[in-house]
Amino acid sequence: MPLALNAQSAPNLRKENFGKTPNGRQIFLYTLRNPAGMEVKIINYGARIASIRVMDRNKKFDDVVLGFDNLSGYISKNDPYFGAVAGRYANRIAHGTFKLDGKLFHIPLNDGPNALHGGTIGFDRRVWDSKDASTADGPAVELHYLSPDSEEGFPGNLNVTVRYSLNNRNELRIDYSATTDKDTVLNLTNHSYFNLAGAGSETALNHKVMLAASRFTPIDGTLIPTGALQSVAGTPLDFRKLATVGSRINDNYEQLKLAKGYDQNFVLDHPGDLSALAAKVEEPNSGRVIEAFTTEPGIQFYTGNFLDGTIHGIGGVYRHRSALTLETQHFPDSPNHANFPSTVLHPGQKFQSTTIFRFSTE
Ligand code: GAL
Repeated sequence: MPLALNAQSAPNLRKENFGKTPNGRQIFLYTLRNPAGMEVKIINYGARIASIRVMDRNKKFDDVVLGFDNLSGYISKNDPYFGAVAGRYANRIAHGTFKLDGKLFHIPLNDGPNALHGGTIGFDRRVWDSKDASTADGPAVELHYLSPDSEEGFPGNLNVTVRYSLNNRNELRIDYSATTDKDTVLNLTNHSYFNLAGAGSETALNHKVMLAASRFTPIDGTLIPTGALQSVAGTPLDFRKLATVGSRINDNYEQLKLAKGYDQNFVLDHPGDLSALAAKVEEPNSGRVIEAFTTEPGIQFYTGNFLDGTIHGIGGVYRHRSALTLETQHFPDSPNHANFPSTVLHPGQKFQSTTIFRFSTE
């Protein structure tokens, strides 16, 4: 079709100013658009996804991720990592402490006794360099950040690149890469909060979820993995077949009580296989669907248990459990669990990771 050809050779990317940080750094808003009209907005503050607009089954567009329409929302202390790239170590490190090459490292504690999403000022609060990286396949933005040696306590100068691209099959692809000049640990994810009925909808509990995971990493009272890999069989964490999120979330099951809902790392059955479906989410009223594919070994499935109606963002007020995340990643606290896939990156090695979110309707 001439239209598709034309669209392929003229990728649609718009760049606008999105304000300045308190230190005067310019933040840009990139809008990636495909021929189907799907739009993804990226900002270089925290390398964040600020908006994803997709059609429902009646061809109505809505924003399906939680976020703000202004920079100050993202900068405010209340922001719970909306759409951000979490790093240098996404998820928790117990007591903010780990040993690497016989040396102890300490990351600032910002989540009770633990370090969460890279410490006090993680990658979500850094200003990234950004550029148009569009190709014949569609619009793309590439973001780069140099995390200096010892930043938030992590060893090694780490060069990180994140590339967001959108194709005409409604696939948002995220490619992460990194190199270091000293041994370090690294875990990167995107922290988008999805509500397929539209951001600001009262709840996400009606969403149906499939996670291709026969096991999960059970947590203790501070949400740190015990180290076990436990079967999901016979538990409310069995999402191997599509199940409605709200149907078991209030069950009297210890893991759900500890996390006040779902907030566990699921061990994917096909780690490293980008062609295997890792997760699927369906929202019955809009008919919107997300399918997730990843090279990562795990997914943190979190049901917005800490949202409490105090944040007002795009689409309205964000209530308790009004969104869910599919944080493709290595397992939480891996630096302290020798039996988990390693998160160590050595000089001379290139870290590479890809996640694809494909949007459709049914
Ligand atoms: C998630 C984490 C939750 C919560 C959230 C941010 O990645 O699993 O426990 O901390 O980030 O509010």
